[in-house]
Amino acid sequence: MQNITIHTIVNNELYIRTIPVNMTLLQFLREDLHLTGTKEGCDEGECGACTVLVDGHPMNSCLVLAAEMDGKHVLTVEGLAEDGRLHPLQEAFLEVGAVQCGYCTPGMLLSGIAMLNLYPHPTREQIRKEMEGNICRCTGYERIADAILLASERLAGETEAH
Ligand code: FES
Ligand code: FES
Repeated sequence: MQNITIHTIVNNELYIRTIPVNMTLLQFLREDLHLTGTKEGCDEGECGACTVLVDGHPMNSCLVLAAEMDGKHVLTVEGLAEDGRLHPLQEAFLEVGAVQCGYCTPGMLLSGIAMLNLYPHPTREQIRKEMEGNICRCTGYERIADAILLASERLAGETEAH
């Protein structure tokens, strides 16, 4: 198998790694970097459990090659807390009970953050549409939408306060 060397920033840290050309980003994160917060569900782009942000855009990490990450910034669930404080969306998920088994949660958080960057004041309808690539078998989605709405209010409040 052919190898390739990549320079990739993951959660604000530079990694220089030589990897097989056919390694997926999901395998790279979990097996090479041991960042196991990103989950493997279907492994074929259907469930969203493996969602991470690449240069700010949500991607199913099971569908992209790690080799394509050369020169890119990747954000995973491990990179969301800052200075020991959870991201406002993580806090909101906990507060409203949007986490049950938690398997979908890392992907939901990253997709939710990408959506809030696009739509800082989303409607429930927008949330449903934008999050449809992320499947949850436990919560029925309402609490996840509640958490995103709560975080959007708080983030808007923070922006106004500055
Ligand atoms: S594991 Fe990637 S979309 Fe399901
Ligand atoms: S909390 Fe279990 S799959 Fe979403």
